[in-house]
Amino acid sequence: MRTDHTVTAPQAAVLLEANDVSVTIPTSGGIVTPVDHVSLTLRSGEVLGIVGETGSGKTVTCRSLLGLMPSAQARHTGSVTYPGVMDENVLDAGRGVMRKHWGTYISMIPQNPMTSLNPVHRIGDQIAEAIAAHSSMPKSQRFERIVELMTRVGIPNPQKRMRDYPHQFSGGMLQRTLIAIALAGDPRVLIADEPTTALDVIIQDQILSLLVDLQRDLGTSLVLVSHDLSVIAQVCDRVAVMYGGQVVELAETATLLHTPRHPYTNALLKSLPGAVPRDQPLTAISGSPPRLIDLPDTCRFLPRCTFADEGCSTWTTELLVAGAAGSPAGVRCRRHQEIDLQPPSRSGQETPPRSSLVEPMDFWAAR
Ligand SMILES: Nc1ncnc2c1ncn2[C@@H]1O[C@H](COP(=O)(O)OP(=O)(O)OP(=O)(O)O)[C@@H](O)[C@H]1O
Ligand code: SF4
Ligand SMILES: [Mg+2]
Repeated sequence: MRTDHTVTAPQAAVLLEANDVSVTIPTSGGIVTPVDHVSLTLRSGEVLGIVGETGSGKTVTCRSLLGLMPSAQARHTGSVTYPGVMDENVLDAGRGVMRKHWGTYISMIPQNPMTSLNPVHRIGDQIAEAIAAHSSMPKSQRFERIVELMTRVGIPNPQKRMRDYPHQFSGGMLQRTLIAIALAGDPRVLIADEPTTALDVIIQDQILSLLVDLQRDLGTSLVLVSHDLSVIAQVCDRVAVMYGGQVVELAETATLLHTPRHPYTNALLKSLPGAVPRDQPLTAISGSPPRLIDLPDTCRFLPRCTFADEGCSTWTTELLVAGAAGSPAGVRCRRHQEIDLQPPSRSGQETPPRSSLVEPMDFWAAR
């Protein structure tokens, strides 16, 4: 989909920097750690993907980028800054300070469009509320702005549809409404948390295209969250793979797809229809993801990893530098330099030329 794919220049301005962020939640069953020493940067014009199975910590990570914690009891360490805009730690700033940045510098499209809108308020009123929250625009101009935003996100006949209630909108139209609300304050950073999960594939494609168009036309940087690597592969410049609350691999998208370094990334690719050639079987990842309660410091993937050796059971995980100088990349596997992962694009053969990767779906073509 992202046919104009260009890798964002490493020297592009950093808009967001998360440094060694951890979030813990005390519960009756023990300490839950949904975010465990996560470091990420987002540069101007970049689309950063976050991919991982359900419960791997994607939403809690994204909310921490806005300084939001999952509960009043939750505790954090590490820092999030918006360089040049908010050099104070976002995680310590509090709502009073953050309200100045929410919507205008950074916006998040929440995970579930069906429950994220107020069912008893008209669509137009909910967009107007976001406009009022993020600008001093007089009421007389808000109507035009609502029409502009609804048109921008592809809602037809906005003058009429703004009078509808959420139950009169389809899932795709609700998702477009949430995107309009997120754009109301012209943010520089947009976080889209699973924006296509509840939608059928055709609408999913339309929403992804919309996000890519917005990112290109408005110059917004995008963090796109999905449990579906094929969605991420179509759109993102760089990808962070999350597993058990940790980033286990961070790389440019093409590198990640063709030469994954972490056994989990490789297993994800091997389980993905479209990434695996048609004449080869898909391989399910055996076992279950870890429960994030009272976890040890050792490798989260160990119980499911076919490359584990004795050293893995005592290795305290850390994100090891894996990229060339100037290209931030990392992998959380102590054996990444010695194991031969045989990713699906080259199983049993040399890495095929790019042209032969176009089939069976444009999963590879986008790269
Ligand atoms: N308030 C909370 N109290 C206790 N545990 C929580 C809380 N919020 C999140 N968690 C736990 O943190 C873990 C990560 O949650 P998160 O919502 O970030 O996952 P996710 O990767 O976004 O999953 P999904 O793909 O289902 O959206 C989950 O195990 C979840 O149960
Ligand atoms: S550190 Fe060991 S167990 Fe963990 S992913 Fe690497 S090889 Fe597998
Ligand atoms: Mg989530």
